[in-house]
Amino acid sequence: MNIGIIGLGYWGPNLVRNLYESNLCEQLFCCDLNEAKVNKIKSRYPALKTTTAFRDILDNPSIAGVVIATPVSTHHPLAKECLNAGKHVFVEKPFTASTAEAKELVELAKAQNRVIMVGHTFEYSPPVIKIKELIDRGELGKIYYISASRVNLGLHQKDVSVIWDLAPHDFSSIFYWLTEEPVRVSAMGKDYVQKNIPDVAFINLEFPSGCIANVQVSWLSPSKLRRTTIVGSEKMLVYDDTENFEKVKIYDKGVNYKDPETFGEFQLSYRTGDVVSPHLETFEPLNREMRHFIECCQKNLKPKTDGDNGLRVVAALEAAELSMRRGGVVVELKR
Ligand SMILES: NC(=O)c1ccc[n+]([C@@H]2O[C@H](COP(=O)([O-])OP(=O)(O)OC[C@H]3O[C@@H](n4cnc5c(N)ncnc54)[C@H](O)[C@@H]3O)[C@@H](O)[C@H]2O)c1
Repeated sequence: MNIGIIGLGYWGPNLVRNLYESNLCEQLFCCDLNEAKVNKIKSRYPALKTTTAFRDILDNPSIAGVVIATPVSTHHPLAKECLNAGKHVFVEKPFTASTAEAKELVELAKAQNRVIMVGHTFEYSPPVIKIKELIDRGELGKIYYISASRVNLGLHQKDVSVIWDLAPHDFSSIFYWLTEEPVRVSAMGKDYVQKNIPDVAFINLEFPSGCIANVQVSWLSPSKLRRTTIVGSEKMLVYDDTENFEKVKIYDKGVNYKDPETFGEFQLSYRTGDVVSPHLETFEPLNREMRHFIECCQKNLKPKTDGDNGLRVVAALEAAELSMRRGGVVVELKR
């Protein structure tokens, strides 16, 4: 199958590397408006076909699928043109800049009978998949709450707030783990460096099951944290994505409440048991993701991170951004 890729900025070359070096597709056509970026990728992989005109990709009938790795504001118009041209489409996270755009793409893909997939890379990563398995088999018990920090002295985006840049990773992972989406969202944030582009945000999410989550995202923090804590009724878990080994640790810790039998009896018992780090498979998430996209196109399958998955994340991002812009009001999400 021949694939086209649009956008060779910071992220696009990682997708090219996986598609090209793993021989996942027959011919790869690369496109960027910026000629210097096109030339750079061509010098690295001389066998690639390149162009600066998106139309060349659209008009080429041999290209069955297109991978879009451009800025968020361009995702909807580019994906729409690709679907209308009969191509399968993979769109980087966040899927679109609004729920209205996401819904339109989901409907269009259905009407065109084409695959639409979103680059929620973490849903293809070994630690996130392992945590899903642990939660699904009840290892942690009922999930009480999740707190996540994704902060560093990061690359400030020009067109979107830190919420749209970093929170898609945590939202997609959390919704995947819990198999549910939030009903209420609120957020506080500030634009300290660039006016009107918030660089720090603290987001609260509430789920139908009663689970609550807090996600901190920032481009303005002294050290890099990629740390998630999940507290369940049976066990607790810490996932640290900056660790090279033992990214996931399960703590057999908890507090049990006992009804007092006699007056003055101590009512809480604390449990501290083993700390276990489960074995994780080793594969590159991006490779899994690209392989999955191609398989879905070839066999007409529904991707794990399909358009509806992307839409759920966009709806929560939109709600968080709205809350932040309105000083932290609670935004209800319609189901
Ligand atoms: N999955 C992940 O972990 C991950 C990580 C980083 C970025 N991303 C996503 O990847 C996307 C791109 O991010 P980036 O940091 O690489 O941005 P970037 O600004 O570095 O690169 C975007 C590139 O797209 C090109 N472009 C824009 N419009 C175009 C058009 N119409 N035709 C052809 N080329 C066009 C630009 O010239 C630029 O080179 C974003 O959606 C971002 O959120 C995903």
